[in-house]
Amino acid sequence: MIKILKSYSVLSSTVANIIKRQLKKHPLSKLGLPTGDTPLGMYSELVKEELDWSHAITFNLDVYLMNVDHPESYQSYMRKNLFDRTNIYPDHTHFPFRPTSAFEDKITESMGIDLCILGIGTNGHIAFNEPGTSFKSRTRVVDLSEQTIQDNSRFFGSVDDTPKQAITMGLGTIMESKKIILIANGDHKLNILNVAMNGEVTEDVPASILQTHNNVEVYYCD
Ligand code: F6R
Repeated sequence: MIKILKSYSVLSSTVANIIKRQLKKHPLSKLGLPTGDTPLGMYSELVKEELDWSHAITFNLDVYLMNVDHPESYQSYMRKNLFDRTNIYPDHTHFPFRPTSAFEDKITESMGIDLCILGIGTNGHIAFNEPGTSFKSRTRVVDLSEQTIQDNSRFFGSVDDTPKQAITMGLGTIMESKKIILIANGDHKLNILNVAMNGEVTEDVPASILQTHNNVEVYYCD
């Protein structure tokens, strides 16, 4: 199930090519998009080519509960790495918001996510669904785990300055995507990826739910 690629640049271009094909074939596609380190190469591949994003609609997986104009907010990340470098309409780009049921309604009104790209946390989280999250969960406000706060503190300089809460799509929400691609990079992700994809399907390992989706691809490079 896990496809091992020989370098980060191959991983990035492989997944960017899947998104390009999707947008060329179905310009009205709805994409689920992640932030973090792993997709940075994918986004830089995507903006190298002039691609028509004018009909695309995006739903980000998660946001920190913080000032959206902070340079480390996920809104800033997406503007910098993708949106400001394409012709996507800002009002076609969606981030989880409160009331979270209204965000869910937006996904439903747009007829659901066609292609959802995911990263994975070292504790097996996808989006910000931490271990123990119900497989049926929907978009909601969550407290981040100690591990995730620690992992994310590299972006904020210290644990104290790192956001402690987020709004995340739920596992049930993500699983309704028609196609899902999970990407992971680095030795520190190999063990959890293996546990998630080949181990028991359990709420203790949120990403393990992907084993039950009928259209998932997983790409890894060390
Ligand atoms: C971020 C997200 C998270 C990250 C995960 C891995 O939008 O959904 O689940 O994908 O924390 O982050 P990186 O890629 O920085 O290792």
